[in-house]
Amino acid sequence: MPATIVVGTQWGDEGKGKFTDLFAKEMSMVVRYQGGHNAGHTLVVDGESFALQLVPSGVLYDHIVPVIGNGVVVDPVVLLAEVDMLTAKGVDCSRLRVSGNAHLILPYHQEIDALTERYLGKNKLGTTKRGIGPSYADKSTRVGIRVQDLLDPKIFREKLEAVLEDKNQVLTRVYNRLPFDVDELAETYLGEVRDRMVPYVTDTVGLVHEALEAGQHVLFEGAQATFLDLDHGTYPFVTSSSPTAGGACTGAGVGPRHIDRVVGIAKAYITRVGAGPFPTELFDEVGDHLVDVGHEYGTNTGRRRRPGWFDAVMMRQAVRVNSLSEIALTKLDVLDQLDEVSVCVAYDVDGERHETLPYHQSDLHRATPICETLPGWKTDLTAMTEPGDLPVEARNYLDFLEDQVRCPISLVGVGPGREQFIHRTAS
Ligand code: IMP
Repeated sequence: MPATIVVGTQWGDEGKGKFTDLFAKEMSMVVRYQGGHNAGHTLVVDGESFALQLVPSGVLYDHIVPVIGNGVVVDPVVLLAEVDMLTAKGVDCSRLRVSGNAHLILPYHQEIDALTERYLGKNKLGTTKRGIGPSYADKSTRVGIRVQDLLDPKIFREKLEAVLEDKNQVLTRVYNRLPFDVDELAETYLGEVRDRMVPYVTDTVGLVHEALEAGQHVLFEGAQATFLDLDHGTYPFVTSSSPTAGGACTGAGVGPRHIDRVVGIAKAYITRVGAGPFPTELFDEVGDHLVDVGHEYGTNTGRRRRPGWFDAVMMRQAVRVNSLSEIALTKLDVLDQLDEVSVCVAYDVDGERHETLPYHQSDLHRATPICETLPGWKTDLTAMTEPGDLPVEARNYLDFLEDQVRCPISLVGVGPGREQFIHRTAS
């Protein structure tokens, strides 16, 4: 499997880090292909906890080259702070490579993100306010400033001057805020930030292809997830990039023929942060139980995640749009204490049964889940390592999910630790 994509299949926070970490052993390179520091995952290595937002998780392994691809938006101040944090914990970050084509997140992006949200009032999206959307918007309207512009101070300043003309008009006239000062920003970003960024900047497309040509294993690491995808998610309650598997191709510069394996990470239930439709959302004590036992609070923003039952309708769509070859299911142990577990097998929209995702947003907003309920296993799964260890009810639950979504579940997470997973024979 020289080229593998790991993609979230729900609304993020599926626990991608756990399996990315597991696959990392076989990899020579781990490439982030989209998103920015809106992502966040915590990895526990040898008892030490690492909270990563931007640096690919492969950095924790000496044999891996961690790469930030062209599809990512990079806040260089955040990136350097993360490098400092990792260095202080003894992690060597000198192997990190950042695409010169990646776009920068600059302070006006963050300010505009927060202001736009505030002005949307009750219609707000619940963004992470990290400037992700405004930076991608500038990329699309072709006024973005890229990582490679740091290499040429004259160009950087020219672009900054041009873009601030427009941003400052918006900030002062529309939002009644103070303008940004070109000299101040140029001094910060062309000073220490530039000096420290330069060694990491390179042609990452070339690097990835050299690795693939040498037969090395490359992992493409998605952030966020399928239903936060700008095209395939629950628009407008989405992020501004393409987390789906196709995003790995554009965001890293590889064609689809290079991809051998696409692993979809799914949680045994679902959570969502931020606003937007969520057919299987639970507002009762079972939902509270999932949040408590699953520690469902944002790594990045601390927000309580909205909980719900596993949704096979969404998952069928995720299997399709990502061409999943297999599913890695996380956090099965969070369901251990429940008497019963439910799975949404179809939606009811105005009396009509839908087994595939309705394309019209109004239908999705009105959809009520049609659930099937299975007996719980009421057993602690956290020490189990073999499929045969699992109680019959847990095995039935996995078989049921597999049958519903028509994709094999090859790995099952039964706890937060590195070794807490079960390798299942693909059925
Ligand atoms: P943005 O990516 O900050 O623009 O936020 C857009 C939407 O994506 C909001 O609903 C966020 O809560 C959600 N989002 C962004 N990043 C993540 C993530 O890593 N996990 C879960 N939700 C996320």
